[in-house]
Amino acid sequence: MEKQLMRIIVNEQEYELYINPKMLLVEVIRDLLGFTGTKRGCESVSCGACTVIIDGMAVKSCSVLAMQADGTKVTTSEGLEINGQLHPIQKAFLDHGAYQCGFCTSGMLMSSKAFLDENPNPTTHEIREGIEGNLCRCTGYNSIVRALDAVAKGNYREDKA
Ligand code: FES
Ligand code: FES
Repeated sequence: MEKQLMRIIVNEQEYELYINPKMLLVEVIRDLLGFTGTKRGCESVSCGACTVIIDGMAVKSCSVLAMQADGTKVTTSEGLEINGQLHPIQKAFLDHGAYQCGFCTSGMLMSSKAFLDENPNPTTHEIREGIEGNLCRCTGYNSIVRALDAVAKGNYREDKA
């Protein structure tokens, strides 16, 4: 199959790639660009481990062809840092022990960021709903919800991160 040109900005860096048009976005992000924070889990749009942010929206990158993201701006967990400092959500995850094996963490962070950008003052019920597309086998979710609640309450502003 003839390769197609794709232009994409990932973590503020612009890339031009010739790809097999059947490639999934998760394959381009991990295998061609090397952003391996994004995980391949179920590969059937269930677990959320592959979640990235495309033009402000959390998207499961196993669910889209890479060419569907042509011309977009993508952020992965590697792009969350701000001026070399952990993002407030990353800092809160660390402080609250909101990860164990870490396999879900990258996708969970990206869904959390998109959710809090959209809804900066959620209730804990809304937080649970906001991350319900991301599965975690380890934490039981409570520590993740506490971490996001702390961010929402302003305990992790960017200048404190
Ligand atoms: S790997 Fe994409 S949702 Fe599980
Ligand atoms: S920390 Fe292991 S799956 Fe979430």
